[in-house]
Amino acid sequence: MDRKVSIIGAGMTGSTTAHWLAEREIADIVLVDIIEGIAQGKALDLQEALPVIGKDVRVTGSNEYDATAESDIVVITAGLPRKPGMSRDDLLFANAEIVRKAVEETIKRSPEAIYVILTNPLDAMAFLALKVANIPPQRVIGQAGILDSARMRAFVAMELGVSVENIHCYVLGGHGDEMVPLTQISNVAGIPLNKILSSDRLETIVDRTRKGGGEIVSLLKTGSAYYAPAVAVAQMVESILKNKHLIVPASAYLQGEYGLREMFFGVPVQLGRNGVERIIEYPLSEEEAQALKLSAQAVAENISKLK
Ligand SMILES: NC(=O)c1ccc[n+]([C@@H]2O[C@H](COP(=O)([O-])OP(=O)(O)OC[C@H]3O[C@@H](n4cnc5c(N)ncnc54)[C@H](O)[C@@H]3O)[C@@H](O)[C@H]2O)c1
Repeated sequence: MDRKVSIIGAGMTGSTTAHWLAEREIADIVLVDIIEGIAQGKALDLQEALPVIGKDVRVTGSNEYDATAESDIVVITAGLPRKPGMSRDDLLFANAEIVRKAVEETIKRSPEAIYVILTNPLDAMAFLALKVANIPPQRVIGQAGILDSARMRAFVAMELGVSVENIHCYVLGGHGDEMVPLTQISNVAGIPLNKILSSDRLETIVDRTRKGGGEIVSLLKTGSAYYAPAVAVAQMVESILKNKHLIVPASAYLQGEYGLREMFFGVPVQLGRNGVERIIEYPLSEEEAQALKLSAQAVAENISKLK
């Protein structure tokens, strides 16, 4: 493969991202972790799985950042996940140090890389990554919106018994409990959600979407979700590497869009070879605009603690 994706953090989300990516056969994959053997062991196990599905990519694991040199994309998943009862924001200071180091070590070895950030609290960690890397903001993107929207799509599909392929949901805002699932633009085969579901059913789905990460944390008891977050990262990576111009909700650096500046926030973005190619501004109801404002305040508070 002439393309390379490095994943920092070979825990649950990092190794599962490697898995979804290897299946797509779009790049060689490097896993890096601080724990001796974990990245090497998972990489070798995945490498040994690939003959079964006929995929020719190289998967390597390392404790050294030199293995990441000349990556096209660096995915950052290193950090602590939530425990039951914790909010994503509780992870701020511990994960900031981990993300800072991961970006410092990777940017000098891959100065042209595009960064996809997963570590929580997501929007603040993406902001930090941008500051540390000191690269154009188009090259740093946080994953949250594809996941939150996929959760909403899953809940709508369960409720209506309709194929997930017909269900298009958009969750914007910060990756926290104040995220904003849009109910007019989200639709089932073109029919707006608020026309197809009663308001109380819709409210239940919106609420479950907002708390979707916490629901998994409380079931697992150790660690947080990984299949869905990881496949969301893989979709972003694929769109960038294949220059697909895919429009997805993701955390991007705003410079006036949606009335917000100098912060990362979940908005619809178009992803291609250069990272974020475009930020799309949806028409929002008064209520949605208000909810986004509240969500933005929560993100801005976190970011200000990092300054
Ligand atoms: N944005 C999202 O949608 C989303 C979804 C799920 C998880 N997350 C976040 O992703 C992060 C990782 O979650 P996880 O479930 O993979 O956790 P995990 O504990 O399974 O894996 C984290 C890995 O990071 C490694 N690590 C810690 N410090 C490191 C360092 N300095 N350098 C390299 N590796 C280091 C650990 O050894 C561990 O293997 C958490 O912050 C979690 O909250 C975000």
